[in-house]
This record gives sequence, structure tokens and C-alpha cells, in this order.
Amino acid sequence: MSLVLETKNIDKHFYKPKDFHVLKDISFGIKEGEFVSIVGKSGCGKSTLLYILSTMDTEYTGELFLKEQLITGKSHEELSRIRNRNIGFVFQFHYLLTEFSVIENVMLPAKKLAEKSPKEIEQDAREKLEMLHIGHLAEQRASRISGGEKQRVAIARALINNPTILMGDEPTGNLDSHNSENVFSIFKRLSVDQGLSLLIVTHDNDFAQRTDRIIEMEDGSIIS
Ligand SMILES: Nc1ncnc2c1ncn2[C@@H]1O[C@H](COP(=O)(O)OP(=O)(O)OP(=O)(O)O)[C@@H](O)[C@H]1O
Ligand SMILES: [Mg+2]
Repeated sequence: MSLVLETKNIDKHFYKPKDFHVLKDISFGIKEGEFVSIVGKSGCGKSTLLYILSTMDTEYTGELFLKEQLITGKSHEELSRIRNRNIGFVFQFHYLLTEFSVIENVMLPAKKLAEKSPKEIEQDAREKLEMLHIGHLAEQRASRISGGEKQRVAIARALINNPTILMGDEPTGNLDSHNSENVFSIFKRLSVDQGLSLLIVTHDNDFAQRTDRIIEMEDGSIIS
């Protein structure tokens, strides 16, 4: 099966306040439909790695491929387009625009991509909300829904452009066990039913154990 995402020998240093070798020779691949978790102690480099994989950080050596296309070295504009079309993100905190309605929040990345009419985008957004069982909240202000609902809105927003891979930096880190379980099942369903690839950083061992594969990091390296 083809690789949706692949890294070859990624290395990164932070030079301030002093030279710090934060990522060391990171090489791995993720297949279509694979649900992978990244675990490791605080400070081992997980978020730094995700930032590179999401094409936001270009200060590294080595190579990053998305759908077998070399991403490393592309211009800022190309990266922005590739990112919008292929990568969905979910963070620990939802980062919804609280003054806007739920559906407006979900529509934003598609409006930015500007490949569909506002009507089509709205239709897509409703479908995503319904898939996540929050269709009834579409017109609600994003500030007036629960934490678990906000995180599902954030997932709907991450899915609006039908990405090839969904990345998350502790997406359940701020949720109680019931809502974490809910998010896990949503992710699992997306990988099994829709062939979506997922790469999720988590501190939750239960969560990690139930993914297809665990990547364990220590001091900037993959150790298993
Ligand atoms: N901009 C920066 N400049 C210098 N050092 C940094 C910078 N950002 C992060 N670091 C350091 O790099 C290391 C890795 O940070 P990173 O945020 O990737 O860790 P993490 O594995 O995500 O940790 P956590 O589980 O706490 O989120 C840490 O030691 C951190 O202090
Ligand atoms: Mg982190």
C-alpha cells in the first residue's frame, strides 16, 4: 500500500538560547487508513515533529513526503496550498472562533481553499457535523457548546477539505474520559470506514494502545 506520509532522516536543532539537537534522524512512514499514535515524555520532541510534518516548520534537514511527493524545499505558497488540501489538524484546545457559529467555524478552511461555492461548502459542513452527531448545533454560537462538542466541531473543521491525513497534538488532552472515548471512536471510524490516515500525539496510554501502531520517542529519537 502507498505511503501517505513519509520522513527520511529528519534532523532539527534549536539554536537559541544554545544549540539543542531536538530531533534526531526521524524516519518512518504512514500508510493509507493507518491510525498511528506518538508517545513519549514531555519535552522529547513530539510537538516539534508534528509541526514539521504539518509543513508549518521548514527549518530542518532530511526529507518529508506527502503522498510520495517531496514536500521539503517547496515555497511558502505551495506549502500552504498542500497543507490546506491534504492535512487536517486537531489540537488540545479547540481554537474555534467563539464569536462565530459552529457551521461558520467548520466552513472556514474550505472557504480559504476556495475550490467550491459557499453553498457546496455549507452542504459539506452540515454533512461533517451530522457525521459527528452535532448537526443540531450548526447555528449555535461556538462559545455556547460544551467542551466535548467543541472538540467535535474542531474535528469537523479539520475534515472539511477531506484531508489525506489528520494530525492531532493531544486532541483528548483536555477532555474527560467519556469525551476522550468519543473522540477515539470517531478517529477509529474515520480510519476504518473512510481510509483516513491519522497521526495522533497522546499522553493517554489507553488511547495509544488501541491505535494500529505506536511510535515511541525519547530525547528526539524514535526508539520503537
Ligand atoms: N522554539 C524553541 N526554542 C528552543 N527550544 C525549544 C523550542 N520549542 C521547543 N523547545 C524545546 O524542545 C524540546 C521539545 O519540545 P516539544 O514541544 O517538541 O516537546 P513535546 O514532546 O511536545 O512535549 P510535551 O509532551 O510537553 O508537549 C523541549 O525541550 C523544548 O523545551
Ligand atoms: Mg507537545
